[in-house]
Amino acid sequence: MLKVSKEFFDLPIEEKMKLYSNDPSKTTRLSTSSNLQKEKIHNWRDYLRLHCYPLDKYDQEWPSNPSSFKQIVRNYCIEIRKLGLKLQEAISESLGLDKDYINNSLGLEQGQHMAINYYPKCPEPELTYGLPAHTDPNTLTILLQDMQVTGLQLLKDGKWLAVKPFPNAFVVNIGDQLQALSNSKYKSTWHRAVVNAHKPRISVATFLCPCNNAVIKAPSELIEDESKAIYKDFTYEEYYGKFWSRNLDQGHCLELFKNSREI
Ligand code: OGA
Ligand code: NI
Repeated sequence: MLKVSKEFFDLPIEEKMKLYSNDPSKTTRLSTSSNLQKEKIHNWRDYLRLHCYPLDKYDQEWPSNPSSFKQIVRNYCIEIRKLGLKLQEAISESLGLDKDYINNSLGLEQGQHMAINYYPKCPEPELTYGLPAHTDPNTLTILLQDMQVTGLQLLKDGKWLAVKPFPNAFVVNIGDQLQALSNSKYKSTWHRAVVNAHKPRISVATFLCPCNNAVIKAPSELIEDESKAIYKDFTYEEYYGKFWSRNLDQGHCLELFKNSREI
C-alpha cells in the first residue's frame, strides 16, 4: 500500500493533475494543504482523497496509473474495513454496550474514506506543518505510517509526543463521533504532522464515518442522569458541514455541539 502510494506521488505532475480538485464534494481528488479556500496558512502536504465504500461505486474513478493501484487499494480497503468494524465492536463492549451497538447506530453502510498523505521534504520545516493540530471529525481513523520517516505527533498531558512508526502496526485514532457517542468516555485525540527537511513522508489514513443521516447520541446507559448528556443529538451530515466551514485551527468542532445545560 505504501509502495504504490509512493509510486503515485512520484508520477509526473501533468499525470497527477488530471485528478486535481479543490472541491471537497468530489469523491476522488488530489489536492494540497487542507482547506485551501478557508485557511490563512497553508500546510506542507499533498493528498489523494478517495471514497472507498461501496468499492464498486467508486473504484472506477480511482487512478489507473500506477496500473496496480486499484487492485492493491481495493484489497487494502476490504481488509481495513473488517478491522475497523471489529475495533468498533470491541469499543462497544468496553463501554458495556452490546457489541453491535456502535456499528448499528452509525449505520451498517457506514462510509469509508481514505487520504493518502504525501509530505514533501521541506527546506524550512520549523515554519510549517504537514497537518496542524486537529482531531479527526469521523468515528475512527486507522493510519498506516511510513517506516522511514517520523512525522505524527499527539498531544498527551499538554505535551506533543512523536508517534514513532512501529513495524507491522497501525495507529488507531478516536474521532469526534466516538467522543460524542460515548458521552466523552472516549476522547478524540489531538494530533498533528510535522515535516522533514531531508525526506518526503507518506501516510495512509482510513476514516470510518457514520452514514450521513445517522443520529449521533450517547445511549442512556452512558448518561448518569438527563443533565449529564454532554452533547446535543446531531446528524453526521450536520457535523461534517460545520467541520468543513471552519479552519483546522479554530478549536474543537465538537464544542459547538455541547449541551448548554452543561456550561
Ligand atoms: C489525517 C492525519 C496524520 C499523518 O490524515 O487526519 O492526521 O501522520 N494524518 O499523516
Ligand atoms: Ni488526523
